[in-house]
Amino acid sequence: MVDVRLRISRHCRMTPSHLKWQTVLFIFCVYGMELVFGQARYSIPEETPDGSFVGNIANDLGIEISRLISGKARVVTKGGRQYVELSRDKGTLEVKERIDREELCKQTTPCSFSFDLIMENPIELHRVFVEVQDINDNAPKFPKGTASLQISENTEIGTQFHLDRAVDLDVGINGIKNYSLSPTDHFKLKINNEADGNKHVELILQRALDREERDEIKLVLTAYDGGSPKKSGSMQIHISVLDANDNAPVCKQSVYKAEVKENSQAGTVVTAVSASDVDQGLNGQVSYSFAQATEEARSVFKINSETGTITTVNSLDYEMEKMYQLNIKAMDKGGLKDTCKVIIDVIDENDNSPSIQLMSFSNVIAENSPIGTTVAVINVEDADSGINGIVQCKINENIPFKIESSLTDYYALITDETLDRENIAEYNITIYVSDQGSPARYSNKTLNVKISDVNDNPPVFSSEEYKAILSENNSPGVSVLKVEARDDDSGPNARLSFLLEDKNIHGNPVSSLVLVNSESGVISAAKVFDYEQMKSFSFNVTARDGGSPPLSSEVTVTIVVQDQNDNAPQVLYPVQTGGAVVAEIVPRSADVGYLVTKVVAVDVDSGQNAWLSYKLQKVTDRALFEVGAQNGEIRTVRQVTDKDAVKQKLTVVVEDNGQPSRSAVVNINVAVADTFPEVLSEFTDFTHTKQYNDDLTFYLVLALAAVSFLFITTLLVIISVKIYRWRQSRIFYQSNLPVIPYYPPGYTDTGVTGTLPHMYNYDACMTTDSRKTDYKYSTIGGQSVLMMDPSFTETMQRAMRERVLQQDPESPEAVRN
Ligand SMILES: *[C@@H]1O[C@H](CO)[C@@H](O)[C@H](O)[C@H]1NC(C)=O
Repeated sequence: MVDVRLRISRHCRMTPSHLKWQTVLFIFCVYGMELVFGQARYSIPEETPDGSFVGNIANDLGIEISRLISGKARVVTKGGRQYVELSRDKGTLEVKERIDREELCKQTTPCSFSFDLIMENPIELHRVFVEVQDINDNAPKFPKGTASLQISENTEIGTQFHLDRAVDLDVGINGIKNYSLSPTDHFKLKINNEADGNKHVELILQRALDREERDEIKLVLTAYDGGSPKKSGSMQIHISVLDANDNAPVCKQSVYKAEVKENSQAGTVVTAVSASDVDQGLNGQVSYSFAQATEEARSVFKINSETGTITTVNSLDYEMEKMYQLNIKAMDKGGLKDTCKVIIDVIDENDNSPSIQLMSFSNVIAENSPIGTTVAVINVEDADSGINGIVQCKINENIPFKIESSLTDYYALITDETLDRENIAEYNITIYVSDQGSPARYSNKTLNVKISDVNDNPPVFSSEEYKAILSENNSPGVSVLKVEARDDDSGPNARLSFLLEDKNIHGNPVSSLVLVNSESGVISAAKVFDYEQMKSFSFNVTARDGGSPPLSSEVTVTIVVQDQNDNAPQVLYPVQTGGAVVAEIVPRSADVGYLVTKVVAVDVDSGQNAWLSYKLQKVTDRALFEVGAQNGEIRTVRQVTDKDAVKQKLTVVVEDNGQPSRSAVVNINVAVADTFPEVLSEFTDFTHTKQYNDDLTFYLVLALAAVSFLFITTLLVIISVKIYRWRQSRIFYQSNLPVIPYYPPGYTDTGVTGTLPHMYNYDACMTTDSRKTDYKYSTIGGQSVLMMDPSFTETMQRAMRERVLQQDPESPEAVRN
């Protein structure tokens, strides 16, 4: 053992750096004792060029170079490549082939190879160990040149991400020593040394990511080895920052203002809101909706959830809502949201017509209402605003009303002139209102105002005066005429009643003559009238209305009593005495046409009833006398002869023209004689009464006066008649009235000859004083004087009384009747 140990110590010359291996070598030597004569150990760096010196084996094993040559020493490698060869001449070992430690040993360390040195004669075997020392000939290397990582932006700080580590074929100090990262603003490295000596590389997030700021980060990971000089290898790391919904949408404006006209049709775009979201994809997709919008606003507006466009769904009414406030929610698909406000002003349009409301209205107004009386109070309104709501008010023109503004929007309709119901009883007052919009809107209202009656109009008769003709001998109660009146007022103010005004006519109250129907105005006769007693009369009728106080007016009614042929003619001359014989005397010398006498008759009737005609009825000698049909003159028609009888008797019929006619008969005695005694002798049978003789003188005087008076009167009448006709013809001429004076056929109206005209005839009676009970009448010709029949005087008296009655109603005679 000592030997071995010595040999070992002799052959195994150890460098200090190999001391640690001594123990191992020793054990190895013990096992190889039978074969191996010696050992040698060398150490060379890898990659040593060929021929480089490895060791002086001769020296190290104590072998002579000659022995090497004689022993034919050679290197024997078992398998594998021969890296080292022997230079026998020098006794040195040299590098035969480049040694790559990494190829030879991979990561094994220490790395060595061995070969044997064999010599012959005697055979000798020496084992040589060569340790290959690592040199830093490999750089660290990452398996992949790039690494990609996807990291969400909201990853928490401190999160670790595993990275592939780099590999360095070198070992030991030349292996990977550390890593570095660049840049390190978001990440840092964490190196974990594993038990196997490897290092784990972790990437640690040290600052929060923000995709919106930077969505891709490029890092370079570099690995360094510990060689000298050190080598490095690097790897690109691409980090994609994944989006997280970390951004809420943001409205572009927090408040939007918009205007929309009222009555805009549905679908009108009001405005559009917009919000942006910097997130990606769904996280950045914003949808819009109403937040806390009133139901009403929802019914009016809608929002397009994608575009944010707000449109109307209904027409708007400024008058209902002037402004809308909408809260809009902009929300991304990740549920983050923002809100903004939209204020929509509704713009007024002139879409409302002004309205008229009657606050008070009296549709009936008295015609005597003073000017300024209020008829109606009107309220006008227009729901629009601004000038669209400013209202003007007026009424139609040319009516006695005006409109006054009392308060804002209030107007009073008042009277502007005095009213007159009788002129205009009703007004249609139209109130026109218009606003100032463009175009303006109008409306109107018509008020019907009735003017109520006031009793301001008296009754008015249809005629200024009334005249009626009533035939005498009427039946009592017959209606004569009707007065009519109107009253322009109405109602009770126009209800008329007719009253007879109290009055005396010929001493009788008028109510005894006529009756007035107070309602109808019909006037009827209250008694039987006699033309000969009363030819006409007048009275007043009052018409009174029912107003309070009543108004009245009166009218004069004249009733003319019309004559009827109810009186026969009365013969005035010759006087028909009962017993006395009166004769006309015709001298025998009388010529043809001698006026014997004239029959004078009157008829108290008038007109045609008083037109008289005369006829001979009976005559002693028809050839001797004739009577003028119109004038009653009895004349001779032939020369009187001596043969003619003294005593001639004629009967003359006097007839009026009435229908039917009435007549009277008069007997005339004619004496044809030259002397009065002759006559007397002939007329001895003529009766004389004492009374007549007594009064004869008186009657003669009276007759004379009467004749004189008659003559003058006749003259006056003729003149009057002439004047009257002359004037009448002028009136006819002027008036062109077709009035033709009427004369009955066969009658002439001459003032000179013929019958006394009726007027004359009559007036003669009227103007004569009739206070005497008897009446004496003489012929116009004054040729004869005859006696008067007493019965005739009665007739005359009556006629006279009537005349007096007409002239003087107050006379005692009238009263007596
Ligand atoms: C007023 O109007 C009414 C109804 O239209 C009509 O019957 C009446 O005749 C009118 N009155 C006047 C005075 O115009």
